[in-house]
Amino acid sequence: MAASSNRTRLRYLLHLAQDNLDFRLPEIKALLALRGKPFHPGEHFKEKAPFWCLDGLCEDDVRGIMARSVCAKSAFELWGHGQTHSELRTSLLTYPSELMTPFLHKDSTYKINVYTFNKTLEFPDRIKRINAMEYLPFEGTVSLKSSQHIFCLLEDYGTDPNNIPEDPYYIYFGRWIADGQRELIRSHSVKNRHFIGNTSMDAGLSFIMANHAGVKENDLVFDPFVGTGSLLVACSHFGAYVCGIDIDYNTIHGRGRSSRTNQKWRGPDENIRANLRQYGKEKMYVDVMVSDASKSVWREAALFDAIITDPPYGIRESTRRTGSHKDVTKPADGIYLESHVPVSQAYHLSDIFTDLLNFSALHLVIGGRLVYWLPVYRPEYCEETVPLNPCLRLISNCEQMLSSHTSRRLITMEKIKEPEEFDSLAHLADPRFSPFQGHNAFREKYFSGVNKRKEENKSDLNGE
Ligand SMILES: C[S@@+](CC[C@H](N)C(=O)[O-])C[C@H]1O[C@@H](n2cnc3c(N)ncnc32)[C@H](O)[C@@H]1O
Repeated sequence: MAASSNRTRLRYLLHLAQDNLDFRLPEIKALLALRGKPFHPGEHFKEKAPFWCLDGLCEDDVRGIMARSVCAKSAFELWGHGQTHSELRTSLLTYPSELMTPFLHKDSTYKINVYTFNKTLEFPDRIKRINAMEYLPFEGTVSLKSSQHIFCLLEDYGTDPNNIPEDPYYIYFGRWIADGQRELIRSHSVKNRHFIGNTSMDAGLSFIMANHAGVKENDLVFDPFVGTGSLLVACSHFGAYVCGIDIDYNTIHGRGRSSRTNQKWRGPDENIRANLRQYGKEKMYVDVMVSDASKSVWREAALFDAIITDPPYGIRESTRRTGSHKDVTKPADGIYLESHVPVSQAYHLSDIFTDLLNFSALHLVIGGRLVYWLPVYRPEYCEETVPLNPCLRLISNCEQMLSSHTSRRLITMEKIKEPEEFDSLAHLADPRFSPFQGHNAFREKYFSGVNKRKEENKSDLNGE
C-alpha cells in the first residue's frame, strides 16, 4: 500500500533539446500514448522550456519514452526543486527518505553531475555546488568512472543568451534514469547513408516522424512517396516492417545520376534495401515498387499501421502523376507494348493531399496514424487550410520554418472510423473536407518570395 502511494507521488524531470521546439510535445505525447498513458505536466509547465516536470508516470514509462525520444536528452527522478539553493534544500529535505535511501546506502557507488542551461560554470564553482549537497545522507563511495547511481543538479538560466542572470531562475536535483536517442541523429546521418537523393529526409526529423506516428514493433508502415526511403529507415529502427512506392523508376531501382558531388552515377546496390542493410534492419524490408500514388493498386482494406511520407512540393522534385488531358488510346487488349512510356501530367498539391488523406482513410487500421509534411505559404496560412477527412482526427500540427514566408507543417492524423458513402458530402458541412486550392501555387509563391528577397537584398546593398 505504502509502495503504491509512493509510486504515484514520484515525479520525473525531462531535459529536452532546444531545437525542433514545436515537435517535442507531440513526440512525448505520442510515446506516452504508445504506453497507454496520458500526458500530465507538473505545475509551471512551459512548452518551450528546456525542463519539463511530468506527473503520473512510473520509472518504466520514463525508460520507455527515453528508449524512443530524439527530442528528450535525459530523464531524472525528481527529488527536489526550487527557485534558490535554499528552496531546493528545503524541498530535498522533505522528499520521503524511503525513496532516497535505496540509492544512498553505504555499499553503493555514486557521482553527482552539475548541468547548467544557458550558462557555463567554472570547474571550482561546480565542485562548490557538489560539496554543498552534503546535507543529503550520501553513504556510498564516489566513483566517477562506473557509478551505480548518478545524481544531477540542474540549473536553468533561461533561454535568452543575451540576458544571462547571475543566479539561476530555477534549480532541480534528481536521480538520473536514462538518456534519450539523440545519438541516432549522428549514427543515421544522411551524410554517411549508402543511398541518398536530393530530397532525402534528415535523420532527426525522420525519427521524430516515426515517433509522432507511434510506430511500434511488427507494425507495417507505408510511404507512398518513398524516394530514398529515409522514413522507412527510421521506422525499421523501431521494429516496423516497411514498404513504399515512388513514381520515379530511377529512384526505386537506384539508377541514374548520383546526388553526391564527387560521383556522377549511382553505383551498384544503391537502393533502399541496402540502406536498411547498412543499419542492420534488412529483415524489416518488405518491398518498394514503381507506382503512382494517385492511382492506388492496393486492395480495399485496412493494410497499414502507419503511413508516413514527405510528398513532393514541386521545389526540388516535380509533382507528376500518370495520365494525360489528351485522349491516349489504349490498345484493344488493354496491354501496352513493353516500350510504352506512360505520359504524365501535373499533380496539383491540393489533389496530392486529398488523395493522401482518402488513401489513409481507406488503408490505415483504426487508430493507425498518418504523418506527412504540408508546405505552406505563411502569409496565407491559417488552421482552416489544413486538409481534413471525416475518418481522420487531427492529432498535431507543428511548424518548421523554411524561409521568412514559407514553412512546412508536420501533420499527424489518426484514423477514427472506416469510410462511409456519405463521407463524400462532408465538404458541404465544412469546406476543409474539400481540397484547399491555395496549396497549388506553393511553388510560385516559394520562388516569388525568394526573388522578392533577392530584390530586397539588392536594394539593401545599393543603400536604397
Ligand atoms: C520529397 S521526395 C521524398 C523523399 C523521401 N522522403 C526521401 O527521404 O528520400 C518526394 C518523392 O515523391 C515522388 N513522387 C512524385 N510524384 C509522385 C507520384 N505521383 N506517385 C508516387 N511518387 C511520386 C518523387 O519521385 C520523390 O521521390
